[in-house]
Amino acid sequence: MSHPLLSLATRLSYGARQLPRIAWYVGHGYAVQQLAKEARRRAGEAPPAPRKPVLSDRRLYADMAELFGRDLGNVEAGLYPLPADHDGAWPTLLHRSRLFFSDLPDVYRRRQSGRHDEVLTEDMRGRRPDYYLQNFHFQSGGWLTDESASRYDTQVEVLFKGTGNAMRRQALPELHEIFAGKDQRRLSLIDIGCGTGRFLDFVKQAWPRLPVLGLDLSEAYLRHARKHLRRWSWVRLAVGNAESIPAPDNSQDAVTSIFTMHELPPEVRRKVIAECARVLKLGGRLILIDSLQRGDAPDYDAILERFPTNYHEPYYASYLDEDFTAIAREAGLTHVRDVTAFVSKVMVFDKTA
Ligand SMILES: C[S@@+](CC[C@H](N)C(=O)[O-])C[C@H]1O[C@@H](n2cnc3c(N)ncnc32)[C@H](O)[C@@H]1O
Repeated sequence: MSHPLLSLATRLSYGARQLPRIAWYVGHGYAVQQLAKEARRRAGEAPPAPRKPVLSDRRLYADMAELFGRDLGNVEAGLYPLPADHDGAWPTLLHRSRLFFSDLPDVYRRRQSGRHDEVLTEDMRGRRPDYYLQNFHFQSGGWLTDESASRYDTQVEVLFKGTGNAMRRQALPELHEIFAGKDQRRLSLIDIGCGTGRFLDFVKQAWPRLPVLGLDLSEAYLRHARKHLRRWSWVRLAVGNAESIPAPDNSQDAVTSIFTMHELPPEVRRKVIAECARVLKLGGRLILIDSLQRGDAPDYDAILERFPTNYHEPYYASYLDEDFTAIAREAGLTHVRDVTAFVSKVMVFDKTA
C-alpha cells in the first residue's frame, strides 16, 4: 500500500493538472454558445425555441467527476503513471484556440447549408475512399489539412468538456490486463485511425519500450502525431487504410482504435474489424473506444440522437445500434467486456482458440 503522503501528493498533482484543463475547455464551450447567440442576434434570427435540457448540468458534471475519479484510481492502483496531457505551452494553446474559433463561422455556414463535401475535389477523388472525403463535423479541410489537424484536439476536448484524454486512457487497464508481467519490448500494438497520436502518447507513458504502429489515412494528422510523439522511441507511423492493415497475420498482441468506429460506414466497420482479427496473435486483444450506444446509459440517449444534427456524422446513426459483439464474433473474436466511461464505452475482444 502506498504511503498516505504519496497518495495525497498524487491526488494534488492530478487535480493540479486536470482542473485547469477542464476549466479551459469548458470555458471554450461557453464562449462558443455566446458567439452563436451573438451571430443569431446580428443576423436578426429569432433565438431557437427553448428546449428542455435532456440532462441536467449537475448530472453531467457528476458523471465527469466519476470518470476523473476512476482515472485517478487507475493511477493509484499502478495501472498507469500520473498522466501528462501534453496540451502544449501557452503559445501553442493560444494558437490552437485561435484556429478553433476562427473556423466557427465556416462550420456554421456548412451546418446551415448542409454542405459537407468540400474536400471531395477532382484532385482528391480516387486518392482516398469516397466515404473518407467529407467535412466530418463540418470542419474545414475534413481530415486532410495541417490546420484541421492542429484544431482537432481542441475541438474534441471542447466537445467533451476536457474529458477526451481521460476517456482515451480507459483503454489502458484493458491493455495492462494482458501486458502485465511480460517483456514490453517483445510485445506489439497497432492503433488504427491514430489521428494526432494522443492515445499512443498515453500508451508510451505506460509502456515506453513497447513497439507501436499508428495507422491513419491522413498525412496531415500523422505529421501532427509525429511531432507530438517525438519524445518516444519505438514508434512507427504509417499512412494506410485500416481496411488493409500493413502487418502479417497473427503478428500483434494488441490492436486499438479510439473514436474511429463511428466515422466508418457499416460495411467498412466489418472489414476493419476482420483486419484487426487477422493481424492479432492468438491471445491478442482488440480494444475499441467510441461513443456510448443507444441503451448503454438510457438518460444519454436523447443527447446521442441529437449529436449528428449539429456535427456532420454520416455514419453515427448506424453506429448507435451496431452490434459489435456479433461483428467481432463473425471475425473470430470473443467479446470480453464493455465498460462505459462518461459518454464513451470501451469494448474489449480477445482472439481465443
Ligand atoms: C475521430 S478521429 C479519431 C482519432 C484518434 N484516434 C483520437 O483518439 O482522437 C478518426 C480518425 O480516423 C482516421 N480514419 C478514418 N477512416 C480511416 C481508415 N479507413 N483507415 C485509417 N484511418 C482512418 C481519420 O483520418 C481520423 O484521424
